Amino acid sequence: MKEPIIAPSILSADFYDIRAAIQDIASSGCPWLHLDVMDGRFVPQITYGNKMIADIRRHTNLFMDAHLMIAEPERHVHSFIESGADAITFHAEACIHSHRLIQTIQRAGVKAGISIVPSTPVGSIVPLLESLDQVLVMTVNPGYGGQKLLPFCLAKVDELREIREKNGLNFLIAIDGGINLTTIQQIALHRPDVLIMGSAFFNVQDKQVFVSDILNVWGHAVENFR
Ligand code: DX5
Ligand code: ZN
Repeated sequence: MKEPIIAPSILSADFYDIRAAIQDIASSGCPWLHLDVMDGRFVPQITYGNKMIADIRRHTNLFMDAHLMIAEPERHVHSFIESGADAITFHAEACIHSHRLIQTIQRAGVKAGISIVPSTPVGSIVPLLESLDQVLVMTVNPGYGGQKLLPFCLAKVDELREIREKNGLNFLIAIDGGINLTTIQQIALHRPDVLIMGSAFFNVQDKQVFVSDILNVWGHAVENFR
């Protein structure tokens, strides 16, 4: 059974002590760090930008995925490439020439991901799938941590996996928003490859126990489904 990659998002961490947040992620055994960049236009809030990512980069070997919730990502992508992110994921809804932007990111040696909000169907990104390293399915409306999972979005994970299998493609399927110990059982039945978690991870004291609990529930759910 393939275990999912757990990617904690520092959006729910205490920004006064980012160093502790990064250390918590590394010591809990999670291989990825998810970075939510918000611009106050594509989504209502403003979080942080490329300097934050570049500063963190100097202190960690975690795989860093920058989730750009920004309008016109093509205008800013170069600064995020320079920040040292391992992957850059932008929103299909925010960019007209998505295919060109995927190429720009990949030619710089960075993995390229595209994200879709709950109201965007998989069909709208099908032509891009063969070029992508990751598809990030939003399971809440982007913009805030701590929201409730929208279960109808999980069908997109199945749809994407079927297209991937049928066409021999390689992109990872990530989900983002509302993942916690209560929802993980339902999520596991759809078998996404990457689980992005903000509030559920940072709201618990013992992160290592939390991660192993998540993987346990996941394992049981997948076993029982067989
Ligand atoms: C929301 C962000 C998420 C956020 C998830 O727009 O993209 O990455 O951190 O937070 P939770 O896990 O609390 O739903
Ligand atoms: Zn995110």
